[in-house]
Amino acid sequence: MKIEEYFKSLPENILSGEDVQLSDKSFRDIFSFADLREDDIFYHLGCGDGRGIEIALEEYRVKKAVGIDVNKEKIIQARNNQSKNSSVELICEDIQDSKISDATVILFWFTDEEIINSMMKKFELLNPGTRVITIWGPLPECLPEKVKFPYIINKVPFKKANSLQEQTLSVFGVKCVDFVTAWEFAERYTKAIGTNVKNDRFLTIIQTLIIWINAKKLGVSCGDEVPESIKTYINIMKTHFDIDFEHLLKE
Ligand SMILES: C[S@@+](CC[C@H](N)C(=O)[O-])C[C@H]1O[C@@H](n2cnc3c(N)ncnc32)[C@H](O)[C@@H]1O
Repeated sequence: MKIEEYFKSLPENILSGEDVQLSDKSFRDIFSFADLREDDIFYHLGCGDGRGIEIALEEYRVKKAVGIDVNKEKIIQARNNQSKNSSVELICEDIQDSKISDATVILFWFTDEEIINSMMKKFELLNPGTRVITIWGPLPECLPEKVKFPYIINKVPFKKANSLQEQTLSVFGVKCVDFVTAWEFAERYTKAIGTNVKNDRFLTIIQTLIIWINAKKLGVSCGDEVPESIKTYINIMKTHFDIDFEHLLKE
């Protein structure tokens, strides 16, 4: 079965990422990395059950915290989870319609291109110095201010990357992606976002292959040859799990 078919066999909510909830540890790592402070106005776009808002207020003592989510049930849940606090706002709306101009720190974890592109226009108008935290990749065509992979800080006004290589270097710290880089970053991502699932080695292998193959397609893998380790893992996935990656190398 092709890797795409394997993904299709997963439940829709897993695939879309709609129900992916960051752990308390991930929130703390992100907030400490972003140096969230008492004078910050924090926005969590797609705030889910509001746990991030709670931690930002209670542990990082931000001046104001705003959680926005399009899902009514999640906002109701978030409101029920918050202790009474006048510095919190929980809004049910599409973030593309939201007013975010007073933000100083924003957590934005979206992969949908349409949403990213429409939010980019809003982000560019924010006050200089505002930090937009993304996960996994920087904002499109931008050079990050600071990286602790998979967490990335983009700072207004955004610096534009001159090339994909320059962006790769800023995120991965290397000019090209080889097997070791792909593995290391896949593992960091799984550890940061995962919830100690037993099969995280399996996820790391899939992530590694996807990172390396994407890098190759974008022209930022090291050399033209497919590394032996990548070939080995492609064979393992095919032989033991009946999941096929080979066609992706030919596309
Ligand atoms: C962490 S976000 C990321 C999910 C997103 N599918 C992605 O691109 O990976 C998930 C949360 O965002 C919310 N959400 C999705 N689209 C939204 C939108 N346009 N406006 C506000 N919240 C949204 C979902 O209800 C969910 O609680």
